Amino acid sequence: MKESKVFDCTMIEFDKHSHVKGNISVIENGKTVPFDIRRAYWLYDIPGGKSRGGHAHKDLRQLIVAVSGSFTVTLDDGNVKRTFLLNRPYQGLLVVPGIWRTLDDFSSGSVCLVLASHPYSEDDYIRNYEDFIEYKK
Ligand code: TYD
Repeated sequence: MKESKVFDCTMIEFDKHSHVKGNISVIENGKTVPFDIRRAYWLYDIPGGKSRGGHAHKDLRQLIVAVSGSFTVTLDDGNVKRTFLLNRPYQGLLVVPGIWRTLDDFSSGSVCLVLASHPYSEDDYIRNYEDFIEYKK
């Protein structure tokens, strides 16, 4: 999506069921997520100081959740950058297509869950920043 802006990306609050035994948060297609989830993957055991991401997607929509610990997500539409701190398991960051993203500052033991709108496809990636800027023109 060439025209997308970082302002199209937003934090979403999930249902949270609190109980003396602990909490449950829930995400359902058609309710809390504005796309059908077709894939889930998670990043874990990320060594201190390492970055993830560093690419954009042409069609993929994603919801990024810090299910444990914390990290930052920096979004870039080629014009404006926005950085979000993800540190609550009941919140998620909606990332629309055509946004360059970088994930940094992973706390020790953090887990980054990503819910995605499509199966994995390398063709959907833009992995070179100059190509991304060209794509957004
Ligand atoms: P990538 O999305 O580049 O990682 P990150 O954005 O977290 O830094 O994925 C790294 C590699 O993992 C990629 O080259 C292929 C593999 N992979 C899959 O096979 N399936 C998937 O769904 C994902 C997300 C990655």
